[in-house]
Amino acid sequence: ETIDCTGLHVLPGLIDSHVHLREPGDAAVETIATGTRAAVLGGLTTVFDMPNTNPSITTREKLDWKRDFVAGRAWCDIGFYVGAAKSNIAELAALEAEPNVCGVKVFAGSSTGDLLVEDDASLEAVMRSGRRRISYHSEDEYRLQARKPAYTTGMPHRMHAEWRDVECAFLGTRRLMALARKTGRPAHILHVSTAEELNYLKDFRDVCTVEVLLNHLTQTDEAYDRLGGYAVMNPPIRDARHMEAAWAAVADGTVDSVGSDHAPHSRAAKERPWPECGAGLTGVQTLAPLMLDHVNAGRLSLPRMVDLLNAGPARVFGLVGKGRLAAGYDADFTVVDMKKTRTIEESWIASPCGWTPFAGQSCTGWPVMTIIRGQAVMREDAVLGEPAGIPARFAP
Ligand code: DOR
Ligand code: ZN
Ligand code: ZN
Repeated sequence: ETIDCTGLHVLPGLIDSHVHLREPGDAAVETIATGTRAAVLGGLTTVFDMPNTNPSITTREKLDWKRDFVAGRAWCDIGFYVGAAKSNIAELAALEAEPNVCGVKVFAGSSTGDLLVEDDASLEAVMRSGRRRISYHSEDEYRLQARKPAYTTGMPHRMHAEWRDVECAFLGTRRLMALARKTGRPAHILHVSTAEELNYLKDFRDVCTVEVLLNHLTQTDEAYDRLGGYAVMNPPIRDARHMEAAWAAVADGTVDSVGSDHAPHSRAAKERPWPECGAGLTGVQTLAPLMLDHVNAGRLSLPRMVDLLNAGPARVFGLVGKGRLAAGYDADFTVVDMKKTRTIEESWIASPCGWTPFAGQSCTGWPVMTIIRGQAVMREDAVLGEPAGIPARFAP
């Protein structure tokens, strides 16, 4: 088959290194099949799936189950995070060495699911358990607990960014960097969301890499008034000062990767009154269009975007065959039309939960084709062939 790409840009296959596909556990909002279908519709060729499912992915048995389960179901390639829990610290070194595991994920603040490693001693034991970079959810449980009284009195959505203010994330990040220096174990700090953390981390480049989320580059706290619970995520969307700091960190090289933190919840869960509404937003399908729109708006260059969505994650996680680590690469490509303008519509969303915080937003720059190992799996919104995604491989 000859593919005519006249007038289009051919990019290395784009990666979302931070998605929660909810399987096993919550097929009503998302599955491996639907989440990877959303990914290829949005121009992605690989995703890395988080372990806070039900049950969570914390043992070899669960990992083996998931690896076997994705065969014939995944539309794109998929890497697996293993969750750290106080019960599996002794197993973590062996699990992270598995070829399809992108890394160990640590939640230091409680989130969707039951994974939590919150005290210093357990966190240090996790840090000492292995060799590869750990991925860290940088919010601090102690701080969250301290804030609980204010949190439960029914604050308006707009206050979300205030009560979980900067300190909550900053405390977690400072704690982790102290442990990283002490143990020599590097960390990939997920969803860094404050100006304070980004500034602080400049002095820790020897032991950290940095992820920023698309939402924190795109939305500010006005979204709470507009979207209510459909703007609630952890860490929260904050005010414009933090968004500008995130863009500055993209520009000065502090940021290594941009993810979506795709985290579907049912409409019922999102519509529960604050603070009971589920935290997390869909994003795997809209990551590339919104980043391309940011490119067109002059926020970053196209090569820098490719760096953040392909070379960056490949380097941080040691992804083999799709970044700059192997002698040859898979023929994974995202073909984009930088001139195409289109509005994000909820009817386009492939996740069963059926909503996006970006409904109605117009983007210029769209993925028009997704090619995985030489085969077109998406072309002009049609998903083609069979789900032929395979587990991604990572350097030991
Ligand atoms: O907003 C979030 N949603 N933050 C997280 O850390 C977890 C995620 C989820 O799984 O719902
Ligand atoms: Zn997180
Ligand atoms: Zn997440």
